[in-house]
Amino acid sequence: MINREKLTTQFEKEIKLFEELHPKSKEMFLEAKDNLLQGVPLNWMVRWMGGFPLFISSAKGNHLTCVDGHDYIDFCLGDTGSLVGHGPEASAKAIFEQFKKGASHMLPTEDAIWNGKELQRRFGMKYWQFSTSATDANRFATRIARRVTKRQKIVVFNYCYHGTIDETIALLSEGGRTVVRNGNIGPPVDPAITTKVVEWNDASALEEALKDRDVAAVLAEPVMTNIGVVFPDPGFHDTMRKLTKKYDTLLIIDETHTMCAGVGGYTKDNNLEPDMVTLGKFIASGVPAGAYGISEEVGKKAIAEIESEFGVAKGIGGTLAANALTMAAMRATLGEILTEEFYKRNTPLATKFNEGVQNAIDEFGIPWSTTQLGCRTEYIFQKEPTRNGSEAMAAKDNDLDWYMHIACLNRGVVMTPFHNMALITNATTENDINKHTAVFREVVQNIMD
Ligand SMILES: Cc1ncc(COP(=O)(O)O)c(C=O)c1O
Repeated sequence: MINREKLTTQFEKEIKLFEELHPKSKEMFLEAKDNLLQGVPLNWMVRWMGGFPLFISSAKGNHLTCVDGHDYIDFCLGDTGSLVGHGPEASAKAIFEQFKKGASHMLPTEDAIWNGKELQRRFGMKYWQFSTSATDANRFATRIARRVTKRQKIVVFNYCYHGTIDETIALLSEGGRTVVRNGNIGPPVDPAITTKVVEWNDASALEEALKDRDVAAVLAEPVMTNIGVVFPDPGFHDTMRKLTKKYDTLLIIDETHTMCAGVGGYTKDNNLEPDMVTLGKFIASGVPAGAYGISEEVGKKAIAEIESEFGVAKGIGGTLAANALTMAAMRATLGEILTEEFYKRNTPLATKFNEGVQNAIDEFGIPWSTTQLGCRTEYIFQKEPTRNGSEAMAAKDNDLDWYMHIACLNRGVVMTPFHNMALITNATTENDINKHTAVFREVVQNIMD
């Protein structure tokens, strides 16, 4: 069994070692405190383990180098922003060439047509629009849903994450009320006004939420990925589609993470028929980009609504959205990197990654388990798979989480912070997986009785 005293002493040792190994990162962090809020350009960066973040000098393929000169195997890949690897050649070439021809002129290029056709082929949605992030894709999709249905509320699932969209940063309270989620900075209104929160896999709660016919859209990942990986029960997607149709509510499927399952995400692999699909993160190799697809029926209604406003839609868009540089990067990513071969190569390696983890779990007899979705893997500190957000939250163990991250980092392996997730990309080798397997075994052994 895990020895909690050892866990505490080992964790302290690892924190000390981290500090010794990274004097330059620490110095930069202290310097940055003078002009960056909390010493970082984005608050999340202080949430990495170690007391200060690694400052990165370069990244290529699946490797990171920090300013102290250490090389890391990167299984985090920017929490999927760089799922296709850092600086892939095809995108680098397309970005460089396009930049010389103009980055942003608020007029379309031919690449936009190519991207629209390709996404239509992959996801079956008729019309496409582009944004600068997945957050924006979700924001714009929900705004269109409200306008088209003339309804105010949206439904999300407990412990979901869809970006920084006010309506989605909410939780289900014990009394069944919608409440503000911890850490939600400055919500404009009480989320109970905008949102109903339902547990994943709970069909009767979903019907209860929809039956007042005041819900514009259900916004859902097809598999929850932001509180560990929580799969849908068999038949849950069918039920969700039937219920949304029954109550004239639109269904928006957020494939931002689940596109790690295949070229058309979970939607294509499982023949889902949503009204809208949203994407982002890696679809332009890490150049900021989002996309949302709309079915023909809803798209025609959206066009009518936008034209009723003299053609200028406010609340959706942005001057940098769909710019020429982003479109070129997206075309190179979709056309040359994120192909069937990408998934054929990397999914078996993800399985191998999990086998390495599972072998150690079995050897030490600890009640942990692994999940996999395409080239995305994860382990949790519980034996049984979780069925909804609350169960997944209850399975979290921050002490273990923090220890595993810092201990792996000190041994040259970067895992995704906030959970134990690893992504496999074209540059990941069998040796990289073997290295993780050995590191995982060693750091677990160090906290056993
Ligand atoms: C499912 C999902 N949708 C949307 C987003 C928002 O992505 P971004 O922060 O790149 O806008 C995230 C971010 O983690 C996500 O996990």
